[in-house]
Amino acid sequence: MSILITGGAGYIGSHTLVELANANYDFIVYDNLSNSSSESLNRVEKIIGKSITFINGDIRDTAKLKEVFGNHSIDSVIHFAGLKAVGQSVEQPLEYYDNNVVGTLRLLEVMSEFGCKKIVFSSSATVYTDPDKLNIQHSKLNIKEYSPLREDSPVGGTTNPYGTSKYMIERILEDLYISDNSFKIAILRYFNPVGAHKSGTIGEDPNGIPNNLMPFISQVAVGKREYLSVFGSDYDTHDGTGVRDYIHVVDLAYGHVKAIDYLNNHENIKPLVVNLGTGTGYSVIDVVKAFEKASGKKVPYKLVDRRAGDIAKCFADPSYAKELLGWVAKRSLDEMCEDSWRWQSNNPDGYEVK
Ligand code: NAD
Ligand code: WQD
Repeated sequence: MSILITGGAGYIGSHTLVELANANYDFIVYDNLSNSSSESLNRVEKIIGKSITFINGDIRDTAKLKEVFGNHSIDSVIHFAGLKAVGQSVEQPLEYYDNNVVGTLRLLEVMSEFGCKKIVFSSSATVYTDPDKLNIQHSKLNIKEYSPLREDSPVGGTTNPYGTSKYMIERILEDLYISDNSFKIAILRYFNPVGAHKSGTIGEDPNGIPNNLMPFISQVAVGKREYLSVFGSDYDTHDGTGVRDYIHVVDLAYGHVKAIDYLNNHENIKPLVVNLGTGTGYSVIDVVKAFEKASGKKVPYKLVDRRAGDIAKCFADPSYAKELLGWVAKRSLDEMCEDSWRWQSNNPDGYEVK
């Protein structure tokens, strides 16, 4: 029996393949390579010492999905495939809803048809309601209590089509379970994944100018960009810059192994909704300093205006993941920076093989 890994050539998917192989799970990768390179799979093959079955396909391609389910014994799916750039989703909402929501519907239809009823879904902390949208006066919540975020914190007040697409998919999965209790579903809400595998051979390889902090810092340190723009220095945080819950991608990847283990070992379970974060928030300046220490390089930065849509603090309460799955994030911010740097300095052009 194999696990179908949609989006398995991407950043989190490729690291999860390594952890699944370490745990002796068999898998098949299904990816349209719209935001990745098959070189990541070549590198994973070297790490795990095994060849990988890869199918180049789109999750919206029902005929191709049926062929895959017809030709292989697939008993579960880890569903990473999706578009993830927040800013781009504002400009191209239809593309995002089509790719993420319609793509997931097509996948779930084919899974149902073939009796494959276990799925782990990549959700995001972005589904939690933006604090600016919370009606504090009419809510029992105090704004100061927004983070740590618990799985039962308010969700759905999203600020962009990307976040809304994740929220919609969570709802679709919950409704699917209501209609068919034999589905076993794990919704994992990731915080801010960073870092790379220890080998320095796989990592995050964004196209163009990185949107996210860690890849941007890495590119400044390696000399590809002049300086980092720090978005906002007047937030209500210890140094005025935004605070986030950065989680090492290998810890995150291992969370998927624990989620699959759980689904395999339990019957008659309601959809699980689990935060994957460390529970510790670090500011932008904390990350810059840790990266300078890890790389031995200076990371010049300029304090600029806040980025639209950003909030002051966002970090997880990760206690449910520990209680339910026996999972905790183990790797420190220093390790996240060391591993990001090893990947970036060994592969300044990412997977582009020259
Ligand atoms: P990624 O872009 O590196 O990986 C996504 C993969 O899905 C890519 O390989 C891409 O080619 C593939 N893909 C996209 N659309 C597809 C389609 N229609 N059919 C088949 N394949 C398709 O992103 P990632 O950082 O590895 O994220 C994986 C998942 O986790 C995504 O669903 C993302 O939304 C979610 N997530 C990511 C973060 C983050 O900060 N990286 C945080 C929370 C949630
Ligand atoms: C982190 C901090 C920025 C870049 C996003 C998505 C979220 C999830 C993870 C998918 C913030 C600051 C950043 C820069 C900066 N993805 N920053 N200069 O915004 O917390 O989350 O990625 O689900 O949905 O919204 O991550 O890495 O962009 O920003 O100062 O050049 O770094 O303001 O405080 P974010 P990020």
